[in-house]
Amino acid sequence: MSRIAYVNGRFVPKSKAAVHIEDRGYQLADAVYEVWALFDGKLADPEGHFVRLERSLSELSIDMPMSRAALTTVLREAVRRNRVREGLVYLQVSRGVAKRDHAFPTDPVAPAVVVTVSRVDRASTEARAAKGVGVITLTENRWGRCDIKTVGLLPNALAKQKAREAGAVEAWFVDEMGLVTEGASSNAWILDGEGVLRTRDTQANILRGVTRLTLMDVAREAGLKVEERPFTPDEARAAKEAFITGAGSLVLPVVSVDGKPVGDGAVGPVAMKLRRLYIERAKATAV
Ligand SMILES: Cc1ncc(COP(=O)(O)O)c(C=O)c1O
Repeated sequence: MSRIAYVNGRFVPKSKAAVHIEDRGYQLADAVYEVWALFDGKLADPEGHFVRLERSLSELSIDMPMSRAALTTVLREAVRRNRVREGLVYLQVSRGVAKRDHAFPTDPVAPAVVVTVSRVDRASTEARAAKGVGVITLTENRWGRCDIKTVGLLPNALAKQKAREAGAVEAWFVDEMGLVTEGASSNAWILDGEGVLRTRDTQANILRGVTRLTLMDVAREAGLKVEERPFTPDEARAAKEAFITGAGSLVLPVVSVDGKPVGDGAVGPVAMKLRRLYIERAKATAV
């Protein structure tokens, strides 16, 4: 059971876990987060997530609440207490609690830290991957700093809800140039007609997905050509394959875009191979 949360230095039953009503994360989305996949009770892609966490915090001038080593201990202890082997670990760090004011508190406050752990049923996620999922496209309407992993996720949440209402699993944002940026909670990829794996470059306003980065390496190691080159929804439909990546979705085949098939509409072998290779790599490097 995943029933224990870590809140500001204490492990508490989730039903009693609470943050202050003047937490700046709650009032102003002045907070960042990270999500690690858990394989056999171990944190996947540890380095990548810590690097991004430190970057997100530094972009907002929030201090790391504790050292990487101490944070790793907290995350692992949360996993242990919840007895979860396959799942996700969620960490949120807000600027802290202060009387409501848009500008930062003038007297320093300690960052507020929350950790929760959830279980993932790998059998059902594998079954979903084997069938593939649909995505819809929506006009990009998020702020200009999607590279910072903040909890300001309202456009992402609304996009995900629209996807669900359309019978799809993810929404891809499309920018003013007609190019896919990324998903509401994942990065977007295609295997184009020339057999090149393409995903959006990080000069664009996207989150630098940790899974994306590891997969670029895994794919190159497997002899595939990878380019950080954007694509349109039409190019995705004309592609051989498409998929999304993220700590939650891992590598998840996409078989339709706006209800129209990608390629022949079947789950492709390359996406499934990359899923297997990514999981192997993640398991081998998890801590
Ligand atoms: C908007 C967005 N893009 C991409 C990703 C994938 O990032 P990662 O692979 O680090 O989980 C996420 C993950 O939550 C996300 O929210």
